[in-house]
Amino acid sequence: MVPTKGVFTTRQMAEIARRHLPRAIFDFVEGGAGSEIALARNRARFEEIALLPQALRDCSAATSVVTIFGRRYAAPFGVAPMGFADLIRPGTDRALARAARERNIPYVLSTAATTSIETIRDIAQDNLWFQLYPGSDEATAAALIDRALKAGVTTLVVTVDIPVPAKRVRDLANGLAIPLRPSLRTILDVGRHPAWLMRALFGTRLGMANFIDNRGAMSGLKHAEFVSRQLSCPALDWSRIEGIRKAWPHHLVIKGILNPEDARTAARLGANGIVVSNHGGRQLDAAPAPIEVLPAIREACGDALTIILDSGVRTGDDIARSLARGADFVLMGRPFLFAVAALGLSDGPKAIIDILRDEFMNTLIHLGCPDPAELDDSFLWPRRTGAGILSPRQEGNR
Ligand code: FNR
Repeated sequence: MVPTKGVFTTRQMAEIARRHLPRAIFDFVEGGAGSEIALARNRARFEEIALLPQALRDCSAATSVVTIFGRRYAAPFGVAPMGFADLIRPGTDRALARAARERNIPYVLSTAATTSIETIRDIAQDNLWFQLYPGSDEATAAALIDRALKAGVTTLVVTVDIPVPAKRVRDLANGLAIPLRPSLRTILDVGRHPAWLMRALFGTRLGMANFIDNRGAMSGLKHAEFVSRQLSCPALDWSRIEGIRKAWPHHLVIKGILNPEDARTAARLGANGIVVSNHGGRQLDAAPAPIEVLPAIREACGDALTIILDSGVRTGDDIARSLARGADFVLMGRPFLFAVAALGLSDGPKAIIDILRDEFMNTLIHLGCPDPAELDDSFLWPRRTGAGILSPRQEGNR
């Protein structure tokens, strides 16, 4: 067990991170789009869900191990893709990848990461998944797919929920938008965090590592143009997914699905999985919380897809809630970055994984459920799920 210095929850990690980080950096990570309604909704919907224990079931051999995409992982959660994670501290991508490998959970490297696929592959090995923003330039996307293939990645996560950059008011107010024009308040505040500033000044320079070609140039595009052109793309449609499906021979996951019809389309086009996600409340502020729409999505696609959920998962109870409502697996974003900010590169990532895994095991055993694969809506109260759908087991009970 890693020393957690009196920190026991993701919430405490976030509180410490708030003190350790310059405000603009904390806001960039924590903030959501618009009025941050989706951000708040993600948490509120989790907290409304009660789990119904089943008494006197032998859980002496309870396990948190799950199998997805043909591989066993120590627990049903992984690290969500996050661009610019090294803003927390230089080395954050590497530290999270190392802990994911050691604790055996997946680490999803973002297209917008500042560490290269090859560097992270050497650390995370087959715990690495790669996230692709298909963007507007098909040749750039094809080159990234090729690079991920050559690096030995077997799970590609294609994010489809940023057709345009989001309006994030905190970033605008802090001047942390592209082009970068930090406000005076932001500059003064950074000065009040000398430890962060020193690391930022003397650590590795941040660059779009996955767009640097062999000669070290950045694909001929200036940074600002690059971000708007390659990451977000209003012209994206399902034909691009068909193309990616043809080009990618391994597991393909579509991230950013909220609509049951879209889940069906993803299955029809040969995706192996989806991430039911509202991007952590960072894109469409009016979006529903993924945990709300999850039962309808499971109902729409049955067992045709592996269903992964993210956005607002913060505790072992939340992981169990997600699985009981139809997910096979969850991803978490912000908690991993806050763990690094709170406890550092070497202890933070391992501590947060251990905390979440222990919480999840504790929940499982309280519920009388020895195996995550058995978590279903019979553990929900009320048993009728949010979409008003009765499980086959419930139908039988009527
Ligand atoms: C993200 N997210 C994200 N998603 C993605 O597909 N590619 C990316 O590059 C990023 N970048 C990114 C940066 C930061 C700082 C955050 C916080 C998030 C979204 C991420 O993968 C995930 O969907 C959400 O973070 C999940 O919500 P929680 O767990 O943070 O509430």
